[in-house]
Parts: sequence; structure tokens; C-alpha cells
Amino acid sequence: MKVSAQNLHAFCVEALIQVGVSQADARTTADVLVTTDTWGTFTHGTKALRAYVRRLRGGGLRKNGRPKVVSEGPAWALVDGDSSLGMVSSEFAMQTALAKAAAVGIAFVGLRNNCHYGAAGYYASMAIEKDMIGISMANDIPTVNAPGARGSVLGSNPFGFAAPAGKEKPILLDMATSTVAGGKVFAAAALGKTIPGDWLLDANAKPTTDPTLFSHAGSLTPLGGYKGYGIAFLIEVLSAILTGAAIRWQVSSWTFSDPSKPTGHGAAFIALHIASFMPVEQFKERIDRAIREIHAAEKADGAGRIYLPGEMEWERREKALVEGIDLPEDVSASLRGLAEDLNLDLNRILR
Ligand SMILES: NC(=O)c1ccc[n+]([C@@H]2O[C@H](COP(=O)([O-])OP(=O)(O)OC[C@H]3O[C@@H](n4cnc5c(N)ncnc54)[C@H](O)[C@@H]3O)[C@@H](O)[C@H]2O)c1
Repeated sequence: MKVSAQNLHAFCVEALIQVGVSQADARTTADVLVTTDTWGTFTHGTKALRAYVRRLRGGGLRKNGRPKVVSEGPAWALVDGDSSLGMVSSEFAMQTALAKAAAVGIAFVGLRNNCHYGAAGYYASMAIEKDMIGISMANDIPTVNAPGARGSVLGSNPFGFAAPAGKEKPILLDMATSTVAGGKVFAAAALGKTIPGDWLLDANAKPTTDPTLFSHAGSLTPLGGYKGYGIAFLIEVLSAILTGAAIRWQVSSWTFSDPSKPTGHGAAFIALHIASFMPVEQFKERIDRAIREIHAAEKADGAGRIYLPGEMEWERREKALVEGIDLPEDVSASLRGLAEDLNLDLNRILR
């Protein structure tokens, strides 16, 4: 299904308003989800909206929830998300971090009582236009194995990092701390495909290519073995243990659990104000130089080019904004289901 970003955005806003979300919060949520789709990160874009709407109707996500700062200092804050949409409370928390960093150079904002926040990179990327460096991370229900364990011990706790560049594209690292995001395994299962042998372990901690085992009888492998597991634990500390959010199995699944209950996710956001460290132009010249040097590095046999983190996503976005977004079948099926749930006309977004 090919759609324009504008029409897809309008559809998301309409769906959210129909279940009682304010125009402003609906727009914020649509901004996050549609931007994610333009990056080609379809596992965490508008595909998720149907489950968020189910939770809004159930009451576990509060349609009128208002995130608020519950304690703060000049360079830090703790935000309670009030079980509002994860995009709404996370955008608020990152804006809080950016405002504080602009005043004092660096800021850390923790968020509790959040829900699933989608693509970590979106909140990190909010720093780019303000000439800041952004970092975002979140915990989730355990779906990832630890070396030596049978089953899952931590979430695929995502991490986002963004830094502005001058003439080159901004850096945007947006990743799960599992080998791949669980959404990719669900997508393979929905499309009837097998998966590479290093993505998933079965209930006996043996590698499997069968995506249908996930997540009831399969655990994602941690990114790079014990190193990804260690980073996932760091994210658990900063986004959940430190913030008072739900930890590990206390988190409820945003897709499968009782939609009348909050999920309890945590998140953390960091902003660094570049001008406090050096003139912004100097930083941009320096990062451009590093990017160009990497682009010019000697290529392996058969390799066409070397990419920087986020480069593929920015190129996909440029194309999507001109030609429309080519939504994969699992995403269009989810949007069709949402349209049916709410009695909306999905055909309008195809114009
Ligand atoms: N909210 C949650 O609980 C949650 C949990 C896990 C993941 N996620 C999200 O899932 C999405 C997908 O995660 P993923 O780990 O599967 O992503 P991925 O493996 O597709 O990409 C990870 C990063 O690697 C970069 N990259 C990819 N190929 C590259 C190459 N050849 N050279 C240089 N850089 C390259 C990309 O630009 C991207 O920044 C992300 O948006 C992540 O935030 C969210």
C-alpha cells in the first residue's frame, strides 16, 4: 500500500481524536509514528497504532493523561507520564531535557508511568534542529536472553542517539539491544517467513529459525552476546530502576496484556547543548570531517558504499516524502484493522 506521509498522518490524527485524544496529543503521536514509517522503520511506526487505540479504549492508556515534572534540578528532572500515550509523555520528557540543557549545558530526564514509546531514535532526533546531541532509551517486558539463561531476562531495551552535522546528514543510531527488534520477528511470522539463525533461541536456549515461537516460547538473542545484555541492563537502570518505573517482568506487554491496566514502562532522555562545549559551526565541521573520512575508507571487496548510522533512514525519508511511503503488508493489514475497529474510511488515505 502506497500512501503520502500527509494522508497517513491525517488518518492517525482522525483515529486518535475519535477515541477521545486531544488534537495536540493526536498530532504529536502521528508525528512520531509517521516519521518512523518514513525512515522505513515499519516495525515501530503506524503499525502499532491499532494496539495503542485498543489500550486507549480499555483505559490502560489515559486519553486525557498529562505528563508532569514531579521533581527536578537545573540539569535533571523526573517526569510521571500519567499513563498517557508513550509518544506524548516521551516527547514532553525530551522537550524538558532540551530546555534544561539549553540553560545549563546537559540534562537527564527520567520518565516513569510511560507506555511503549516506539522508535528510540525519534526522541534523540528532536535534538538535531536545536543543535544539540540527543540520547533516548527505554525498558520493555523481557523478550531477550542472557548468556547462560533459558528464556528471557530483559527487554530489547532500545537506544537512540542523534547528533547534528553540517553539510552531511545528521547521525541517527536507532537500535534494539537485541540482535534485532522483536517487531522484525513478529513481522516475519506474519509474512510466513523464516528468520536468520542468530536472531532467536527456543525454549531450550537453542537457536531457531522459526519466528512463530516468539515470544511465548522463544527469546531474542542479545546484541553481540554479553555486551548487548550489559547495555540493556544499563538502560534498565537509567530508565526504570532510577525512575521508579516498572522493572523487568513488572512491565506489562503493551500488545498482549489487559488493556484496562497501565503498562508501567520507563524511559530516559539526555540532551547535550553543543554551544556550551564549542562553537556549533566548529562541531559541525568536525563531525562532517569524520563522516567524510569514514565514507572514503577503503571498501571491502564487493561493497558499494559505507553508511553512517541513520544514513539509510534519512535517504528513505527523503524518498518517502516525495514518492509516498510504501507500507509493507503487515502494516497495511494493521491499519485496515484499525479502520474497521473505528469505522473509518482507510481508502481516503490512498488518494
Ligand atoms: N520501544 C521499544 O520497546 C523498542 C524495543 C526495541 C527496538 N525498538 C525500535 O525498533 C527499531 C528497530 O531496531 P533494530 O535494532 O532492529 O534496528 P536496525 O538493526 O534496523 O538498525 C539499527 C541502526 O543501525 C543502523 N544501520 C543499519 N545498517 C547499517 C549499515 N549497514 N551501516 C551503518 N549503519 C547501519 C541504522 O541506521 C540504525 O540506526 C528502532 O527504531 C528501535 O528504537 C523499540
